Amino acid sequence: EMLEKGGFDHFMLKEIYEQPRSIKDCMRGRIYPEEGKVQLGGIKEFAEKLKNIDRIIIVACGTSWHAGLVGEYLIEEYARIPVEVEYASEFRYRNPIITEKDVVIAISQSGETADTMAAIEMAKERGATIFGICNVAGASIPRLTHAGVYTHAGPEIGVASTKAFTAQVTVLTLMAFYMAQQKGTITTSKLIELLTELDHIPEKIQVALESNDLIKEVAEKIKDSTNCLFLGRGSGFPVALEGALKLKEISYIHAEGYPAAEMKHGPIALIDEEMPVVFIATQNSSYEKVISNIQEVKARKGKVIAIVTQGDTEVKKMADYCIEIPDANEAFLPLIATIPLQLLSYHIAVMRGCNVDQPRNLAKSVTVE
Ligand code: G6P
Repeated sequence: EMLEKGGFDHFMLKEIYEQPRSIKDCMRGRIYPEEGKVQLGGIKEFAEKLKNIDRIIIVACGTSWHAGLVGEYLIEEYARIPVEVEYASEFRYRNPIITEKDVVIAISQSGETADTMAAIEMAKERGATIFGICNVAGASIPRLTHAGVYTHAGPEIGVASTKAFTAQVTVLTLMAFYMAQQKGTITTSKLIELLTELDHIPEKIQVALESNDLIKEVAEKIKDSTNCLFLGRGSGFPVALEGALKLKEISYIHAEGYPAAEMKHGPIALIDEEMPVVFIATQNSSYEKVISNIQEVKARKGKVIAIVTQGDTEVKKMADYCIEIPDANEAFLPLIATIPLQLLSYHIAVMRGCNVDQPRNLAKSVTVE
């Protein structure tokens, strides 16, 4: 087993460190930065259809649902197609409006999640076109869908999803650009710029991983908390949700992810000197607004841990701990900002003596509803 873990103490840590590689594998043969072109062989027979779709519905569970929220942000931003993101378990038991013009994207690491399969079957019966985003070749979900794109992240053993999540986000990024290309909502020069940056994201993830020692120190400071809040805005909001899910899954600390501006409608009541609040506070369109949210937390003596852009000075004046990540276009922020949160949960869980790879009560794939 030590061999399989490649020298790491846990599969989860190994999988966190594999991300520069797994994201590269996921993009291989699919992006052409010099030409400003994305090719997705798995869905190319639907290229024409994509020119005229009115709406996309994303269905998924757990971490895959968080990837779906990032997908919503990207597809709406670049392809200008309205997107709804649904929990598969809720969607399947409603009487949702689905038409033949809809494209449903089902996201699943394992490709075996019962609720996601049932949602696909229902949407299919109602005439929608179903795309899958899956990590396991030949699993049930890829067989149920009309077309799809594999994430190629390699086997994920740790129950808490890490590299599969960032690979799902990568595929959704490619899909958003592909759809934008088909619909003509993006120029070739813009695509050249974005794809050139995307091509270098694995290196930026590598840099983010280098904060590991600092993250360990932060983990030491907050490991005995009973609660933790994660806040972000825009594409940083799904990152906050995923950060909270990771922490609760493996360390059993109660954690909540919230859009930073919604804090004042509830979570602010929880803030005192015992409450760590993790902010996604990178320099993008919501930076100034996040700064005022940080001030609100500091005014109530909360402990602020901030994920910031390299070289940041503003947040550093206020936060108790800052973890830097390389600067990136807002579209790619989730791919990088997720990394320190994975490491933070990992170290806290290890320090608390938890079974990181196989947390209590959780299963890697949920094949019953
Ligand atoms: C379980 C796993 C999660 C995963 C979720 C959805 O809860 O523990 O890590 O995100 O199922 O699984 P899927 O395979 O459909 O992505």
